[in-house]
Amino acid sequence: MDLLIIGTGYVGLVTGTCLAEMGHRVTCLDIDQQKIENLKHGIIPIYEPGLEEMVKRNVKAERLQFTTDYQKAVASALVCFITVDTPIGCDGKADLTYVKSVARSLAEHMQEDRIIVSKSTVPVGTAQMLATLMQEILDERGVDLKFNIVSNPEFLKEGDAVHDFMKPDRVIIGTDNEKVSDVMREIYSPFMLSHDRLIIMDIASAELVKYAANAMLATRISFMNELAGFCELTGADINKVRKGIGADKRIGYHFLYAGAGYGGSCLPKDVRALYSHGLSIGYKMDLLTAVNAVNERQKMVLGEKICEYFAHQNEEGIKGKVIAVWGLSFKPETDDMRDAPSLKLIAHLVAEGAQVRVFDPVALEKGRQLLKSLDGVHFCSNELETAQGADAIALITEWKQFRFLDFKAILATMKGNAFFDGRNQYTAEDMNKKGFDYISIGRMQALINQSKSIEDYATVNTSNLS
Ligand SMILES: NC(=O)c1ccc[n+]([C@@H]2O[C@H](COP(=O)([O-])OP(=O)(O)OC[C@H]3O[C@@H](n4cnc5c(N)ncnc54)[C@H](O)[C@@H]3O)[C@@H](O)[C@H]2O)c1
Repeated sequence: MDLLIIGTGYVGLVTGTCLAEMGHRVTCLDIDQQKIENLKHGIIPIYEPGLEEMVKRNVKAERLQFTTDYQKAVASALVCFITVDTPIGCDGKADLTYVKSVARSLAEHMQEDRIIVSKSTVPVGTAQMLATLMQEILDERGVDLKFNIVSNPEFLKEGDAVHDFMKPDRVIIGTDNEKVSDVMREIYSPFMLSHDRLIIMDIASAELVKYAANAMLATRISFMNELAGFCELTGADINKVRKGIGADKRIGYHFLYAGAGYGGSCLPKDVRALYSHGLSIGYKMDLLTAVNAVNERQKMVLGEKICEYFAHQNEEGIKGKVIAVWGLSFKPETDDMRDAPSLKLIAHLVAEGAQVRVFDPVALEKGRQLLKSLDGVHFCSNELETAQGADAIALITEWKQFRFLDFKAILATMKGNAFFDGRNQYTAEDMNKKGFDYISIGRMQALINQSKSIEDYATVNTSNLS
């Protein structure tokens, strides 16, 4: 089938490429001319495992092409997917500027009936609003063309996006039209060979599913982070608590990791957008306020632990200390730094007078751009270089390559020996044996190793809570 993907960002490029891989003829369109030029020359704008090879393979097979030309692209595709960004607006709600702009362009260029599939994450009621907007333009043009708007939210995870798209847990289709649902079934049929994962429902419910899923995932993370603070005050170990509750099949193990807070392009914005949408219709979702607040606090916890550690060592505290930060991207296997906890941590450390040396396996360039206004941030090309002369290391993104390192050499090149593990990647026992002062999230060992009393930590954590 001939398909058009409008918005060649994370979701658009992965969607278009995976649909082409399954045999569809796909055109990916974007208004960013440079991005499209680069793609035509095989330059992929994002880091996503497996994507580059797949793009090149499908371009070579002439199933995948890139354009900025709405007129031509809309003419050749029966089904047009909207995959543009829906950032957070100043009122906290999803900003639909780009989605509306695409709907306008579609209505202006349509010469035949079309199916419009909204893959962007949009609030309940958006399909209806877009239909009105498009109909007005078609009426102005004086043409009698039919179109259907389908809600087909995307659930891919950055870092595992190709796999998620090729083997989806489910594909949600929101439509009130049987013929349209048959077309959508046909598009997705190559992904359903082992079993049918297509779930068809009304448009409003489909629009809400994406927000509901992200709010649930964010709630699980904030719940564990809240418990982690409690563990630190009581001597329990959050990793063991996770194992204990995850074994319950009703709960499961996924998304139950305490850490330095969630970030990225989806969870923070979707929780806020859902809350703000509720508020705008007079429905206050207090749970979401708490989930967001716990996360904002959690993004500060690692920085506060670092400051507290040095405050106990000398009067100057962290001022003038050198902190090595491992990881910049909001999670491993991506270079996406939107709402990354590392940004907050680094800004916090610099504001307190520390020198920061940073390293990330793929997000260094993006980090350089985002952090260029901060003085005292030095970019390094590997873990060892980052650790040179450092008083402490702070791990904030759990890249696999950080799991097994030559810690002897790392410690030898450091000035101090503190290690702050924002993702609980190591055990205190092991890191202490290697000679580190090891501080992690929600694990009692952190206190024992610093020879601090529970009361000391009670002060730290109570101030975090206020
Ligand atoms: N990134 C994710 O992991 C993810 C996962 C699931 C859902 N989503 C949702 O998918 C949507 C897209 O997210 P993303 O991360 O891919 O965004 P992105 O910022 O990576 O890409 C959006 C692209 O749309 C283009 N664009 C903007 N206006 C346009 C227009 N009028 N015509 C053509 N192109 C236009 C931009 O130039 C950009 O290349 C959002 O609603 C997001 O919430 C994202």
